Amino acid sequence: MGRVAIVTGGTRGIGEAICLALKNDLGYTVVANYAGNEEKAKAFADRTGIKTVRWDVGDHQACLDGCAKVAEEVGPVDVVVNNAGITRDGTLHKMSFDDWNEVMRINLGGCFNMAKACFPGMRARGWGRIVNIGSINGQAGQYGQVNYAAAKSGIHGFTKALAQEGAKFGVTCNAIAPGYIDTDMVAAVPDAVLEKIVAKIPVGRLGHAEEIARGVAFLVSEDAGFVTGSTMSINGGQHMY
Ligand code: CAA
Repeated sequence: MGRVAIVTGGTRGIGEAICLALKNDLGYTVVANYAGNEEKAKAFADRTGIKTVRWDVGDHQACLDGCAKVAEEVGPVDVVVNNAGITRDGTLHKMSFDDWNEVMRINLGGCFNMAKACFPGMRARGWGRIVNIGSINGQAGQYGQVNYAAAKSGIHGFTKALAQEGAKFGVTCNAIAPGYIDTDMVAAVPDAVLEKIVAKIPVGRLGHAEEIARGVAFLVSEDAGFVTGSTMSINGGQHMY
């Protein structure tokens, strides 16, 4: 059955593409976590045959309980891909504390919660892969995203710190920093704003979810044991970092 992987936010967009790459390209047993969209999760499970599990990654106890259940029912978790994330865009003067807090709780808190649940087992077994999905906007900042940029930037720091802790136990921790990818999240950006952003992408188009998934598949493979603490930017050349 190969390695067992959990992908958070795994039933849609980039998460779905990651699940499929890990299952089809690496032969991993994949479990897709989702937060609330039952209909999309069911359609995903029917389409892919991948098991889905529901919990909020921003809820610490839910992550501990959910991951323990996956370990019991499917097997010890070898791979975690922290992909779940939300946007609550708005300029600072209009942003509420709730918009700030939710993005930090889910996007950055989710990485901590999932690592707390799965890292100790990986460390004890001497093998593990954690990949955190950061963002170009965590590297470069973005007008209207102090919450999201801070959380994603935090993810990049979190990744480098955990990489140092996992290295001698065979547990790698890396990040991918996607640029603008043709998902629902990017489709929510107003057309006029998005047009200006796309004009600044040297490759001249939005990225595809599968292009992020290929990077994740490499980082969680056996071959990537010497890659840790790195950030792979996949952004069409929009920000070279
Ligand atoms: N730089 C400088 N000024 C800017 C600007 C920018 N990038 N963008 C907008 N402005 C200016 C506007 O010109 C306008 O100025 P005036 O009032 O002088 O005309 C002012 O800011 C107000 O702009 P808006 O009318 O756009 O204000 P708003 O409150 O309606 O909307 C916003 C603000 C929500 C931030 C909107 O601009 C927006 O959605 N921006 C896109 C944010 C974005 O890129 N989000 C990424 C989502 S996808 C993602 O995050 C995935 C990933 O990882 C890449």
